[in-house]
Amino acid sequence: MTTGLELRSKITSDGKLELSLEEVQVPEPAAGQVVIRVEGSPLNPSDLGLLTGPADLSTLVAGGTAERPTLTANIPPERRAMVAARLDESMPVGNEGAGTVIAAGAGAEALLGKTVAALGGSMYATHKIAPAAACLPLPDGATAADGASCFVNPLTALSFPETMRMEGHKALVHTAAASNLGQMLVKICQADGVPLVNIVRSAEQVKILKDLGAQYVLDSTTPTFKADLVDALAETGATIGFDALGGGPMAGDILAAMEVALNRTATTYSRYGSATHKQVYIYGGLDLRPTEIGRNVGLSWGTGGYLLTYFLQKAGPEVMGRLRARVAAELKTTFASHYTAEISLAEALNPDTLKAYSRKATGEKYLINPAK
Ligand SMILES: NC(=O)c1ccc[n+]([C@@H]2O[C@H](COP(=O)([O-])OP(=O)(O)OC[C@H]3O[C@@H](n4cnc5c(N)ncnc54)[C@H](OP(=O)(O)O)[C@@H]3O)[C@@H](O)[C@H]2O)c1
Repeated sequence: MTTGLELRSKITSDGKLELSLEEVQVPEPAAGQVVIRVEGSPLNPSDLGLLTGPADLSTLVAGGTAERPTLTANIPPERRAMVAARLDESMPVGNEGAGTVIAAGAGAEALLGKTVAALGGSMYATHKIAPAAACLPLPDGATAADGASCFVNPLTALSFPETMRMEGHKALVHTAAASNLGQMLVKICQADGVPLVNIVRSAEQVKILKDLGAQYVLDSTTPTFKADLVDALAETGATIGFDALGGGPMAGDILAAMEVALNRTATTYSRYGSATHKQVYIYGGLDLRPTEIGRNVGLSWGTGGYLLTYFLQKAGPEVMGRLRARVAAELKTTFASHYTAEISLAEALNPDTLKAYSRKATGEKYLINPAK
């Protein structure tokens, strides 16, 4: 049996976050399983939700040794209720990643030596045991870093136009659109001829998306934003949006602008507003304020939470297979992820590095390489 290292996050009942590297035994793979030597796993916003949760990062304290560093931080009392279900549990972290298959159980031998990507948690670890059927063998020439982010953001970006079509809409709105996921969505929509209205929050982000060829890119910090949004919605006919902010006025602003855009072409007046259904899905929590929706959105609208897992359950295995095949085929183009730095498990627990990747800034994604 091999010994490995695993990054763990614990929140104690007295309100402390504890991050550490734990030694774990790596068992022999059972039939149908493989052992992956993990060589790349991204630090995505959803991973940070588990890794540091609601901790106050200004209270970070480093401890341990150079090989086995630890970090602690305080959880403010008003944020403790949201983590009540995980108190005192040492939790493995890392949704997805890629690496080399170094051992295979009966029936999984074909994957031995292959570079594969996998999903399913505990990827911030030197080794990951995974069912062979859940592994995506990477195309020839693709490295673990190329494939490390090939599930969460690519499949979510692909799911947006799928949902758009399933729910009878013809164009999309997207916020925090210069994100890693947003840049993939720009390329998908271009290739598939789906009109896309991108909303970002700086001139630099406008340039990033324009350079990718995006047609509609609106900066929410400009004085003409709301008027520009109505124009873009009227031109594209977008009646469904995916909002990564979640909090603040954005979701309500999008619904209100859709309502104005729809009424531009209305032939008769209705006191109830447009009868066309407008939908905004909240799929991220970049803004933790309450969601504000005004009374200027008519009466035919909806908002709701959105998670890739729920979409895949609804869409079924045929759609999942089709989307996975597209990700594999376009791994180095549409779905290429770029990383600011490749860090080891120990470096992930350096306080300055942790603060840097916790910023979730445009173009500053970090990759953990546990084999480093
Ligand atoms: N529901 C799901 O199934 C699912 C699946 C995958 C991803 N997601 C979500 O998708 C989003 C994007 O993920 P990613 O990995 O692509 O992110 P990323 O590359 O880390 O980029 C984050 C982006 O959000 C912007 N941002 C951060 N805080 C913001 C705020 N308060 N207001 C406006 N913009 C803000 C950043 O811009 P600045 O540089 O200006 O800060 C940056 O462009 C995340 O919210 C993630 O949780 C959800």
